[in-house]
Amino acid sequence: MTEQLRCVLCRQTYPVGEVRYECDCHGLLAVEHPPAAWQGVDTELFDSRQRGSAEIDLSGVWRFREVVRALPPAAIITHPEGATRLYARAALCRYAGLESLHFKHEGENPTGSFKDRGMTVATSQAVAQGATAVACASTGNTSAALAAYAARAGLQALVFLPAGKVALGKMAQTLAYGARCFAVRGDFDAAMRLVTDVCRTLGVHLLNSKNPFRIEGQKTIVWEILQNLAWDPPDWIAVPAGNLGNTSAFGKAIEEAVAAGWIKRAPRLLAVQATGANPFYLSYAAGFRTRHRVQADTIATAIRIGDPVSFDKARAAIEYTRGVVTEVTDPELMAAKRMIDQSGLGCEPASACSLAGVRKMVAAGVIARGERVVCVLTGNLMKDPDAVLEELPGVASVAKPVEIEPTLDAVRALLAPGGRPG
Ligand code: F0G
Repeated sequence: MTEQLRCVLCRQTYPVGEVRYECDCHGLLAVEHPPAAWQGVDTELFDSRQRGSAEIDLSGVWRFREVVRALPPAAIITHPEGATRLYARAALCRYAGLESLHFKHEGENPTGSFKDRGMTVATSQAVAQGATAVACASTGNTSAALAAYAARAGLQALVFLPAGKVALGKMAQTLAYGARCFAVRGDFDAAMRLVTDVCRTLGVHLLNSKNPFRIEGQKTIVWEILQNLAWDPPDWIAVPAGNLGNTSAFGKAIEEAVAAGWIKRAPRLLAVQATGANPFYLSYAAGFRTRHRVQADTIATAIRIGDPVSFDKARAAIEYTRGVVTEVTDPELMAAKRMIDQSGLGCEPASACSLAGVRKMVAAGVIARGERVVCVLTGNLMKDPDAVLEELPGVASVAKPVEIEPTLDAVRALLAPGGRPG
């Protein structure tokens, strides 16, 4: 028995080897692992692998391989990814209004975002299926990860980016790793529709999170958080939400961890959108009776998405975990980013939604002061260097460099009274 693909809407199944990204009914597909795959796969096995030295065990994705994707080890394309750290910072705890707050820093992945976790699985699967070319639409991080994994595997990489809306660091990475880049005159949603057509008609493998193997890789963010906390689950996990791949993956990870008996109770999910790109929040606020779509605009370009692809899976994730969806304004998320940056951790704007959303939910009484919370920081500070210098009303600016003559007097004159630091 091996994995199969199952439609989340009509429950139809397809063989795992079939190249397809949706059901005949257009529902999203999810990877389903056979009961045998879960046997003997437990927290002790994962902990022993974490202490090991094999590349495949050091990967925070492939450490969980039996229930991610059962491929022969030689077929696995890894950098290796994951194994990111969990941080606690007193100043950020105070800022959120909590007693216990941790940050899972996914910016520590090889290309600087959580996308590497999904990409190692989807690329390995594509190669196993005989792919020669892979493609995605992206706001920048998926394209950087795709380009890096395609380069490692010797595949042609085609990426479709919203013209003029991709942060500098991400664009630089994507080009440097050697992808063919198409700047689409339109937004991410237009690029997503285009890449879907390209893949369907030109026989290119689609590596967006509609690809169910991406979701299998991204599940491991949650499993690693649980492992970092010695399998004592937090009360809440907060995550920025754009195309909703992560929200979906987190729901699946929690459901599977409970079913496997690795944890006794399910953490609740907090999915956080930017107010300018809030279709999931609007749908949640309307009791999920309608699926909203918006024309998206936010300073957090990573999540500038108006028609999220993984809507149905993400809705199920929120419902299963008794989760909450909220929204934060650009000044709120940038203020949270400044706090994270000044703590020395640093992140890109979209990542700071998690902290801004937690702070808002604590203030609203949705999250209690004594509850244990983990915020996921999805991307590295260096992804978006322009955002560091951005000026927004009500948000403290960074101190700009001061040009001086190369003399001690020039330095003294600019320091505090008395000419000494401090
Ligand atoms: N944070 C960052 C840094 C991202 O790059 C993304 C998505 C998200 C959060 C949202 O995650 O889509 O799973 O809800 N970036 C995609 C990209 C869209 O193309 O890089 P999601």
